[in-house]
Amino acid sequence: MITDWKEKYSKIMKDFEGYSIGKIFKYLNDPEIISLAGGLPSPDMFQKTQMREVSKKLLENNLENIFQYTAVPGEESLKSAIIEFLKRDNINITKEQVVVTSSGQHGLDLTGRLFLNSGDVIMIDRPTFAGAIVAFQMQNPQIIGIDMENDGPNVDEYRKILEEIDEKPKFIYVVPDFQNPTGITTSLAKREALLDLSNEFGIPIIEDSPYRDLRYRGESIPSLFSLDQKRNGTNVIGLYTFSKIFCPGIRVGFNIGPKDVIEKMGNIKGGNILNTPKYNQDLCTAFLTEMDYDAHMEKCKTYYSEKLNVFLQSMQKYFPNKWGVKWTKPEGGLFLWVSLPKKIDTMKLFYEAIKYKVAFVPGEVFFGENPSKNEMRINFSFASKEQIVEAVRRLAECVKAQL
Ligand SMILES: Cc1ncc(COP(=O)(O)O)c(C=O)c1O
Repeated sequence: MITDWKEKYSKIMKDFEGYSIGKIFKYLNDPEIISLAGGLPSPDMFQKTQMREVSKKLLENNLENIFQYTAVPGEESLKSAIIEFLKRDNINITKEQVVVTSSGQHGLDLTGRLFLNSGDVIMIDRPTFAGAIVAFQMQNPQIIGIDMENDGPNVDEYRKILEEIDEKPKFIYVVPDFQNPTGITTSLAKREALLDLSNEFGIPIIEDSPYRDLRYRGESIPSLFSLDQKRNGTNVIGLYTFSKIFCPGIRVGFNIGPKDVIEKMGNIKGGNILNTPKYNQDLCTAFLTEMDYDAHMEKCKTYYSEKLNVFLQSMQKYFPNKWGVKWTKPEGGLFLWVSLPKKIDTMKLFYEAIKYKVAFVPGEVFFGENPSKNEMRINFSFASKEQIVEAVRRLAECVKAQL
C-alpha cells in the first residue's frame, strides 16, 4: 500500500501549485457578483449561425474523418489557411514553420518543454500573462522580470541585466499587443530595440499574440516576427490562438518559427497530446476562409471598444483624482490594469470586493517573482455595459472604504 503519495511526486511537481487565477474563481459562484476577473471573450461575438452551418456540413460530409486520429502537427488545410492569414500581417512562412496547438496555453507548454532545463533563466515582463508563468514554471526556471512602462517593457533595464548576468536567459517572453494583464502595447522603437538585444546577446524572443487583431484605435504596429523577418532573422517564435478572436472552447492555436524548432514542437506534441481534434481545426479553417473574417473583426472591434469606453468613463466618474488611483487606457485587447495606492493589498481587497458583489484579478498573480501588491487586472469584454457601470460603482465603494 502506498501511504505517502507526495513522496512519489517528481521534484518539480512537488511544489507546483497550478494556475493561480483558477483558485480565485471558486469565489465567483454567486450570480449577483459582477465579474471583471476572467479573460472571457463575449459569447455575443460567437458567429453562431455560421458555426452551426459549418458544423452541420462537417458532420454530414466528413464525420468519419473528423472523429478519427489525425496528423500530429496539424491539418494541411488549416496550415494553408494560417499561412494566407499571416501574409496580411507581412509574415511569410511555409507549412514546415507552423504547428497547430491545442490553444495558446498548449503553445506555451510546448515552448517551455522545448527550451527549459530546471534552473534555466528566462526573462519576462513585470507583470505578464499568468498562464505563461505557470506553463514555464512546470520546468522550474529562474525568472527575471523587467518592469512594464506605458510603451512596453523597460528595454534599457533588459539590456542592463543582460550585461550583468553570467547565465544568459534561454528566451525573452513578451506580449507586445494589448498585453494581458496591462493592455499596454509595445512601441515600434521598443520592438526594434528588443530585436537588437536578441541579436546582440543571441537570445530568442517568444512573441505571444492572442489579441493582435483586436485593435480599437491607433495604428497597428508590425509584429516582432515580421520585423525580424525583414531583417532576415530567425530569432522570433510566434504564439497564436483562436480563443479570443473566434472562441476559446475549441482550444486551437498555432506556433510559428524556424523549421527545426517547429518540428521539435511537433515531436513534443506527439508525446503530450497527439493530435488536436480535426473537427475543431476544420472549424478554424472555416473561420479563416469562409466566415468573413474582416466583417467579424469589425463587429468585435465595435462591440469591445464600446465596452472599453463605458469602463473608462465609469472610472472617471466614480474614482476621483484625489484617491490616487490610476489605470491604463488600452488601444485594444480585453484587459486593463488599475494601480491603487501602495497601502492597498489587492489580494485582501479581492475578498472585500466579493462582499460588494464585484470581482477582479489581484495583480500579484501576474508577477513571476517579487510581486507588486497594489494592482488589479480588469476584463471589460464579458460583462454587459450596464454591468460594467454597476461593477465600477461597487468597486469604487469598496476601495473608498480602504482609503
Ligand atoms: C497572452 C496570452 N497568451 C495565451 C493565452 C492562452 O490562451 P488559450 O485560451 O488559447 O489557451 C492567453 C489567454 O488569456 C493570453 O492572454
